[in-house]
Amino acid sequence: MKIAMVGSGYVGLVSGACFADFGHDVVCIDKDQSKIDRLHDGIMPIYEPGLDSLVESNMRSGRLSFTTSLSEGIKGASAIFIAVGTPSRRGDGHADLTYVYQVAEEIGENLSNDAVIVTKSTVPVGTGDEVERIIADTGTSHKFAVVSNPEFLREGAAIGDFKHPDRIVIGTEDDFGREVMREVYRPLFLNESPILFVDRRTSELIKYAANAFLATKITFINEMADLCEKVGANVQDVSRGIGMDGRIGPKFLHAGPGYGGSCFPKDTLALLKTAEDYDSPTRIVEAVVKVNDSRKRAMGRKVLDALGGLEEARGKKAALLGLTFKPNTDDMRDSPAIAVAQTLIDAGVEVSAYDPEGMEIAKPLMPEVTMCADPYEAIKDADATVIVTEWDAFRALDLVKMKETAKAPVLVDLRNIYTPADVRAAGFEYSSVGRG
Ligand code: UDX
Repeated sequence: MKIAMVGSGYVGLVSGACFADFGHDVVCIDKDQSKIDRLHDGIMPIYEPGLDSLVESNMRSGRLSFTTSLSEGIKGASAIFIAVGTPSRRGDGHADLTYVYQVAEEIGENLSNDAVIVTKSTVPVGTGDEVERIIADTGTSHKFAVVSNPEFLREGAAIGDFKHPDRIVIGTEDDFGREVMREVYRPLFLNESPILFVDRRTSELIKYAANAFLATKITFINEMADLCEKVGANVQDVSRGIGMDGRIGPKFLHAGPGYGGSCFPKDTLALLKTAEDYDSPTRIVEAVVKVNDSRKRAMGRKVLDALGGLEEARGKKAALLGLTFKPNTDDMRDSPAIAVAQTLIDAGVEVSAYDPEGMEIAKPLMPEVTMCADPYEAIKDADATVIVTEWDAFRALDLVKMKETAKAPVLVDLRNIYTPADVRAAGFEYSSVGRG
């Protein structure tokens, strides 16, 4: 089966490469000539473990190709995926659908065979109706159906998530749409991944509801962590204790500096906008957004406390380990590290940092932070070392070397990756999140 993927960003590229790996014939399309040139040369536009070799092997086998020409790329494709960005619109938080609609029109104008058009981009409820109208308005003579198929992959684990999903959600009321989508996902069907067929609007809402629910889970446990600190309890044990209840489940209950990334912040805001438009308030999600926003700066204040308080901290130095919003990505979007660094800088603290993949992207976002070549260079003469992102490289730091390198043995662990007793035994003043 031939599949066209319009948009070779994060979702488009991972999905395209995985579909090719399943044996489909995939063309990834992107307007950005330099991105396509680089992909031809095997250079990935994003950092995602395993993606380069997956792209390379499928290009070599001839099942995966790249082009800037939409009309060429979609020729003969039975399924045309729209996987372009839907950023938050400046000012109002609505998802910006300009690219989705432009692509829909271009697809309609260039359709040369019957095809199913699939929105994989995260789009608000009702977008599928609009995409369908736009394509119909181009006057195409070919049969088409517009299907919603949201993507649930996590950065850093995207290939595994794509190949072994908890579920595949397909939103369509159209028989042709259903038939083609069954074919698209046949290899996963054989893997026994559950496929849920629902109507299109429901499918669009499922994506937002899933992300908002996960954001809520994280925010809930973060507030429990704050309470744990006050009452002298341990949030990791609280997570375990509640997570063993099958109705709650153990995942997404790691307390930390607040969620960031390209999805949760943007999608929760967009959901709020949809709720507002339909006059159906989602007050829980409203609270989640507010609590998570304020948490990021609160984590900066936690570091100031470790430096002896606002007055004492001025002129001291803090080393941040990890800048990306989570490990195994170079993504800095809405990363808590940005707010933590800014809070420290505003308080007159000198900040150095190290991140295994994110420093190039982080530099312009935090120009006052000194980027360092390795963790120990960042730690040099620091009055406090802060673990902001739980990269594996920070899980087994040489505490003796750290103590010798830093000015003061103070460790603030915003991801709870160390055992308090061990770090204290090594002579550190240690604080973490929600542990007594
Ligand atoms: C998320 C969804 O998981 C994915 O299904 C959707 O398609 C896109 O958004 P992603 O943004 O890649 O994926 O990252 P994820 O691993 O979900 O983490 C999101 C944020 O939550 C990160 O900042 C992470 O550090 C934080 N988080 C996650 C916690 O603080 N605690 C947790 O227990 C889990």
